[in-house]
Amino acid sequence: MNKFLQDLTTLIKTAFLNAGFDEEVVVSDCAIAELGDFQCQSALALAKKYRMSPLMIAQKVVENLPENKLIKSISAVNPGYINFFVTDEALSQEFKAELENLGKPLGVDNRVTVVDYGGPNVAKPLHVGHLRSGTIGEAIKRICAYAGNKTIGDVHFGDWGLPLGMVISELEAQHPDWVYFDKNFEGEYPKTPPFTVKDIELLYPTASKKAKEDEILMKIAQTATVELQEGRRGYRALWEHIMAVSKADVRNLYGILNIDFELWLGESDTQEDCPKLIEQIVNDGFAQKSQGALVIEVEEETDNKPLPPMMLQKTDGGITYATTDLATIVQREKELGAERIIYIVDKRQDLHFTQVFRAAKKTGVVSKDLQLDFAGFGTMNGKDGKPYKTRDGGVMQLRVLIEEVVQKAQEKVEEAKGQNTDYSLEEKKEISTAVAISALKFADLSIYRMKDYIFDPDKFCSFEGKTGPYLLYTITRAKSILKKSGQNSFENFEISHMPRQLVLTLLAFKAEAEKAYQELAPSVLCDYVYKLANLFNTFYNSCNIISEEDQAKKSSWLYLTNAVVKFMEKVLDLLAIKTLEKM
Ligand code: ARG
Repeated sequence: MNKFLQDLTTLIKTAFLNAGFDEEVVVSDCAIAELGDFQCQSALALAKKYRMSPLMIAQKVVENLPENKLIKSISAVNPGYINFFVTDEALSQEFKAELENLGKPLGVDNRVTVVDYGGPNVAKPLHVGHLRSGTIGEAIKRICAYAGNKTIGDVHFGDWGLPLGMVISELEAQHPDWVYFDKNFEGEYPKTPPFTVKDIELLYPTASKKAKEDEILMKIAQTATVELQEGRRGYRALWEHIMAVSKADVRNLYGILNIDFELWLGESDTQEDCPKLIEQIVNDGFAQKSQGALVIEVEEETDNKPLPPMMLQKTDGGITYATTDLATIVQREKELGAERIIYIVDKRQDLHFTQVFRAAKKTGVVSKDLQLDFAGFGTMNGKDGKPYKTRDGGVMQLRVLIEEVVQKAQEKVEEAKGQNTDYSLEEKKEISTAVAISALKFADLSIYRMKDYIFDPDKFCSFEGKTGPYLLYTITRAKSILKKSGQNSFENFEISHMPRQLVLTLLAFKAEAEKAYQELAPSVLCDYVYKLANLFNTFYNSCNIISEEDQAKKSSWLYLTNAVVKFMEKVLDLLAIKTLEKM
């Protein structure tokens, strides 16, 4: 809660106390602007206890408000609400202070927090699921940092499992003569990869289809995975190549989406830790043998449905997805000093994370205080309500999806701009790309993350409604006014000239940011910034800022416009959506 709201709450609480009610008090924005700036509903719950109507309680509170400089007028209304307006002076001071402090973190939590998001698999092309994880994860990381945490983002590549075994064994089938497959070879392997990322992308679906259809091929892929994990030289050399081409591709694609990581680690970075960890867990008596495999029982008495044990090691000696995740948790605590880890992963992996988190705590391989959170997300669906696919039913690649939206954005920009020929081809390209990315990211963030949503580029790219382009457009409009004013700084204002609702909404920013943090829900900020843009546009359409002759009014309006730009840019920065200077 910010200082202003805290001061107001304390004041109202004193009034409650003076009236004889020693109770918790909550102050919030007033639902009806005409009735007040803020309201308090705390009297409603007290009727029984004090054998008085809530309205009477509210009236008593109002009568007992101490002398102060913050509240201008206060009233009790049916059925027991307390509404009040603050003084212009208090509001002005608060407005100025909040604008100045916009960049400062909230300071509500200062832990070392690792955010695990993105999670691409090196053997497969990025698909729409990686859009969601990357987009939501980047926003959550930034929101956590704004809350005050020391955040570390880790992409956590899927680079140590079966898909790699599949690709490697498929390569072996296609090119048995390659030196990488010669077990007797002891020399140095070539430095340049024998394939491009495109080849790998084509290879995986073929290999995976074959392995699923043919038991023998699946066995071969599994064996290749184990051999890779155990360090077969030629396989490792190929794996290094796959890693190199794939990482470069992921960096590039995530770069376009304004998504970046402090750490570019993956499952494979636990390869040295896994055997030791397994040994420790076995020695401590937490692992059971189960049909030749090693498992950790994680079911608890209070569970209302069965929970399968976590697989620590497969029958063939292979390391599982869960084991690498467990080892990664240990590593993050030891090496990074992590106090909290947040996973932004498809909600269908819920079970996996429940198993891993429980195993981590039960075996005592991490401290009890380490907080582990699974922030799942739903799927992006096609119009048929099923996960969004290509026309022929294949997995939708992220690159193709982005191209589709850029195409749509281009049409929309041209439609909106008409024959505006001021822009060079390059500028046009830059604008439509930014519009497209804002459209895609905002659409992805604005629905509460656990929900599924439907991919609709036409709607996402619209300049009207709750969309990224609408927000970008609002900012460029505001900026163009500031530019036209010819001023560089905006200092003087009188609050009485400003639409009060807009000012109060700006002041609600920190509370909204805190809510987004508590719920790990960027959608809270999307709702907020959309509301802000609507209020600003109403103001913009009703006031002729540049031609206003009353200087006091004009400078107040410019001050407000500048503040709106700053607040909106701050929100969009937390959402990792890039804005434009002009459109
Ligand atoms: N690579 C995984 C996938 O595509 C996601 C990784 C999520 N993070 C993790 N620590 N398991 O399904």
